[in-house]
Amino acid sequence: MDDLKSKYLTQIADAADEAVLEDIRIAAVGKKGEVALKMRELGKMTAEERQVAGPALNALKSEINSALAAKKAALADAALDERLRSEWLDVTLPTRTQRRGTIHPISQVSEEVTAIFAEMGFSVAEGPRIDTDWYNFDALNIPGHHPARAEMDTFYMHRAEGDNRPPHVLRTHTSPVQIRSMEATGAPTRIICPGGVYRADYDQTHTPMFHQVEGLAIDKDISMANLKWVLEEFVKSYFEVDGVDLRFRASHFPFTEPSAEVDIRCSWEGGTLKVGEGDDWLEILGSGMVHPKVLEAGGIDPAEWQGFAFGMGIDRIAMLKYGVPDLRAFFDSDLRWLRHYGFAALDVPTLHGGLSR
Ligand code: PHE
Repeated sequence: MDDLKSKYLTQIADAADEAVLEDIRIAAVGKKGEVALKMRELGKMTAEERQVAGPALNALKSEINSALAAKKAALADAALDERLRSEWLDVTLPTRTQRRGTIHPISQVSEEVTAIFAEMGFSVAEGPRIDTDWYNFDALNIPGHHPARAEMDTFYMHRAEGDNRPPHVLRTHTSPVQIRSMEATGAPTRIICPGGVYRADYDQTHTPMFHQVEGLAIDKDISMANLKWVLEEFVKSYFEVDGVDLRFRASHFPFTEPSAEVDIRCSWEGGTLKVGEGDDWLEILGSGMVHPKVLEAGGIDPAEWQGFAFGMGIDRIAMLKYGVPDLRAFFDSDLRWLRHYGFAALDVPTLHGGLSR
């Protein structure tokens, strides 16, 4: 029995893997293993011999079993250690030292504008860039024959003959979102809508696709004075200065009454554009008190509610703030220009953290 014990304990200690260990188990304590064979011999023994040999064989069997279990656990540990060693992976890639993408100035300015108006309690609304001519014109008090339609240089969507769906246009301004947001939330409301708009026009300060931000505030007693204050606050925050000269010029829009266009003082001396100095004025927005017919089209009772609206050129104010003399450069996709005028991707504009670090 001692021979069996030392033979199997040695084999177990030397076993290289689980397969070898299993062979040893079968040979030693399996149903037909050596210990089982010895147990069968118990029947041939005298009662006294059996009393000694029986417990001794059981002890031997359990000793071999625990040696097997201990070895199995040790092999599993070793296998895990080996995997951890061989499957090791270096996740500390070196960082990219070269700055790649940048935030386009139009995106940056849209975020700056949103941050400023959000602070004044305006939320952001959206609408489609391809809209019906009802939203783009009729609902804004511009009926079919109105000269403003021709002035807008509208891009109309092509319609095949016999296609009777309502006419669609590339929206010529963000004002249709006034109607859509009145329909969606009713009054009172305070929203801005930044987004792309389209007109067939092309020169140093016009591109066929450009950007506006619409503003709309409706409540019981909103007046022109509120409009003027909001715009002046906006301009100060946006240009990060204490004061910028604004010029409110009486104007006309079918969807506001009264209406005013707002210009900002600037200079073009030597071909560079500077804001806040010089004798030139650049128009940056149209505004006014929302026309009663427009409130009605949006489902709001003009006897109870009134408000102001404005539409500002995002590209214009981006040119002014960041000294871009030609609007067309925004859309040329010239990588050198984008690297020069682009913004770091992680600097999100906020009023407290700074708009344009
Ligand atoms: N929609 C006008 C434009 O594109 C701007 C505007 C908006 C004027 C809101 C008044 C009120 O020129």
